[in-house]
Amino acid sequence: MTAAPIRVGIIGAGAIANSHVEGLRAAGCAVVAIADPAETPRTRAAEAHKITAYASLTEMRAAEKLDAVSVCVPNSLHAPLAIEALGAGLAVLCEKPPATSLAAAVDMRKAARKSGKLLMMGFNQRFEPHAQQLARMREKGVFGDIYHAKAAWIRRRGIPGMGGWFTTKAMAGGGPVYDIGIHILDRTWFIMGRPKPVSVSAMAYAKFGNIDTYVCEGMWAGPRRKGGTCDTEDFAAAFIRFDNGASMQFEVSWAGNRPDENGRTLVMGDKAGASWEGDTVQIYGESDNAITTSSIAYDKTIYDNRFVHFAKCLRGEAVCSCTADDGVSVQAMLDAIYQSSEQRREVTVDVPA
Ligand SMILES: NC(=O)c1ccc[n+]([C@@H]2O[C@H](COP(=O)([O-])OP(=O)(O)OC[C@H]3O[C@@H](n4cnc5c(N)ncnc54)[C@H](O)[C@@H]3O)[C@@H](O)[C@H]2O)c1
Repeated sequence: MTAAPIRVGIIGAGAIANSHVEGLRAAGCAVVAIADPAETPRTRAAEAHKITAYASLTEMRAAEKLDAVSVCVPNSLHAPLAIEALGAGLAVLCEKPPATSLAAAVDMRKAARKSGKLLMMGFNQRFEPHAQQLARMREKGVFGDIYHAKAAWIRRRGIPGMGGWFTTKAMAGGGPVYDIGIHILDRTWFIMGRPKPVSVSAMAYAKFGNIDTYVCEGMWAGPRRKGGTCDTEDFAAAFIRFDNGASMQFEVSWAGNRPDENGRTLVMGDKAGASWEGDTVQIYGESDNAITTSSIAYDKTIYDNRFVHFAKCLRGEAVCSCTADDGVSVQAMLDAIYQSSEQRREVTVDVPA
């Protein structure tokens, strides 16, 4: 007898929701419903995917028999909606960032521990085959001791939906640090082996946030909304120290007068190093009196994406590798970046156990 498919509801019918419906279906889940207070996106998504639309999570879970939800809403709503779902006995896949404060990320983890249900962070870039392969090589000792890393994602002009929720601190929590910085930070930290962060020195800047005068070629996440809010940073740089002696340089930009860098991870180990940008991975090493630079080819199909991993965890076929604890650690680093910048000094990072 085959087990009944996992029944999933999606919370939020915006841009990222489609990939959750498609990804979870491809992973064998039954995606049956979607909740969004805004009528247009929820109706469009319901029609496109042949699922039932509701105006809220509360309505959706009252009407549907669900096992899990995907949280695909503006960042400030991740924690309250994930906590509501966990409290109702549902497993949760949560979009990045975990929350908009460390305290909220800890509350989410507390709700997961209390309910005994899975809270998985949807950090998709660590599920990229290159991230998984480099982490595997680190585990096998290929890099030796990784003592330094660089994580950078630089857009010359790429502020999303200026004037909307992405640039409104009360809803987004922050600017590029919370938007694309978390991707590059998490995947680099994951490849390093998730060392415990102990301190951060950072500066964040807001130089391009004038909605009327911002110069760009186009804007994803919708056109600029005149009269809206843009009170987030547009660039940040940080230096993070870890308890194993390793360090990470971090840079992220939505806008700046410099060339683009398309998501770059560099790790330096005493046996070998690796760089990954776009689809290119290179390994830097030594062999028999020679300094070597090599590319790698490997079987990418052995690695699960985040949706397959979530489904496998719920079916008891895998142990979650993108946990609420990871969410708390990453959130602690993000929050420390802002704290350090505000205080203009290095700050200690205490990751709550
Ligand atoms: N992993 C990635 O690569 C990636 C890419 C884009 C966005 N995201 C994340 O996904 C989340 C959503 O981003 P988006 O681009 O889809 O935003 P979006 O603005 O396109 O969609 C958000 C949707 O949430 C809805 N919403 C608001 N309050 C709600 C509530 N209480 N209940 C249910 N729905 C509610 C809005 O009406 C809107 O339709 C964000 O956290 C963002 O950081 C991740």
